[in-house]
Amino acid sequence: MFVPSNAVTPVGREIFRVLLSFDDVVVLPSPSPFEPERVSTKTKFSSNVTLSVPFAASPMDTVVDSEVAKLVACMGGIGVIHRAMSAERQLREVLEVQSAAPEDVPHVDPEMTLTEAYEKLVEHGKDALPVLREGVVLGIVLVMPKLVGAAKVTSRSIYEVFDELRREKKSSAIFELDNHLLIVELYHSHVTPTCENGSLTCAAAVSPFDHGRIQMLDGKAPVLVCDLAHFCSEEAVRAIRALGALSSDLVVGNVATYEEMEYVITHLEELSGVRVGMGSGSICSTSIVTGVGVPTLQAVIDVARALRDYGVNVPVIADGGIRTPGDALKALAAGAHCVMCGRMLAGCIETPAPVIEREGKLYKLYRGMGSLTARLSGVTDRYNYVTKLIAEGVEALVPLRGSVFRVMHEFIKGLRLGMWYAGARDIDELHRKCRLACLTPRGASELSPHDVVIIPPERVAKALSGA
Ligand code: XMP
Repeated sequence: MFVPSNAVTPVGREIFRVLLSFDDVVVLPSPSPFEPERVSTKTKFSSNVTLSVPFAASPMDTVVDSEVAKLVACMGGIGVIHRAMSAERQLREVLEVQSAAPEDVPHVDPEMTLTEAYEKLVEHGKDALPVLREGVVLGIVLVMPKLVGAAKVTSRSIYEVFDELRREKKSSAIFELDNHLLIVELYHSHVTPTCENGSLTCAAAVSPFDHGRIQMLDGKAPVLVCDLAHFCSEEAVRAIRALGALSSDLVVGNVATYEEMEYVITHLEELSGVRVGMGSGSICSTSIVTGVGVPTLQAVIDVARALRDYGVNVPVIADGGIRTPGDALKALAAGAHCVMCGRMLAGCIETPAPVIEREGKLYKLYRGMGSLTARLSGVTDRYNYVTKLIAEGVEALVPLRGSVFRVMHEFIKGLRLGMWYAGARDIDELHRKCRLACLTPRGASELSPHDVVIIPPERVAKALSGA
């Protein structure tokens, strides 16, 4: 890696500092003196809001509405309702989430037979449904095209399959029916939906400058999340101070460096969490347009250090650039408590965005909240109040990738596995014990599939069946 060591500006300040991004590092494996099923992903999103899994859906108008927020909450994460709408409508969206119990979202009961579970999947047009019992997610059933042969679906109940999996210390069983595979996954450690008083809950995005909206949402959503690209300004801090005490938790952000966090800590008495990152989102062009930004991994490392140095113990939310459960693990290992995702969920069928066909493939529209179309039609003060016409984000397409349940499941399973490999029983242990190491470019290419031609699983299934 090229690391110039002596570059200085005319005023003698260091110019070059190596900033690490997700692809520059790996988490080193460590002894795991516990079973993989024992891994706990329980964490905090803000001082008073606990999550069963460390995933938050980003407040973007092509990612989260009340529908998506309910599904994310059911799977133990939290959705942040965006603010590109009137305050009244945003409040209605929040209340809509809170009017639902976990059982109100599509799910299967453990008493159902495998055939009934399959019918329920078909009825809801979903590729995955959680198995719910007394407000707890015991596991998930998934359906996919038949790639291999498996045991035929029988009249056994999901409960019976779970019992067998528990006895055999396995976590999944595969069955076939109707040219499909039905996969039953047991969560040895249950996922608890994110609830308040028995109802699902969510967060709401706010601008520090919009006191009317904040007052309307305060006490309604358990946590309000500042939605500014650059929180660290005199105006934003002053606007927050002028608010006085709030009933809801307040997550500030975004901040991205040690010095910014230091500024916020020394100017604000109260904060219940911090949203960290600048310019790393998949749809961001802030760094291209303005030349300013910090890769999210580095931002987390630096902000977490500032919080530690000042003895401020609030959750850190890594925001932007999370593509895989592996990126999430790296962000958590670097000091985050939770990751905020746009792109991860943007391809889900349930997002409030249209499906677009392109060259025979299906995509979902996904746009930055600073993209030209978003700024012209919605939020204007996220970036700056000088002009609303300097776009800091792009309009884009992401491949359609199934349901929110499926994507959340993939991230939960991937993260739990990564934590086990890293020898961390929980996120606190990940923070205390886990070792991140830098890769050389050669190491990075060795640690991903290489020197092969990758083909889709369907091709393999076809080739092996002789078709
Ligand atoms: P991912 O990588 O998950 O990132 O798609 C989502 C995060 O990106 C931020 N965001 C933006 N940043 N211009 C930016 O510079 C934009 O138009 C924009 N829209 C969203 C935001 O922090 C989000 O959570």
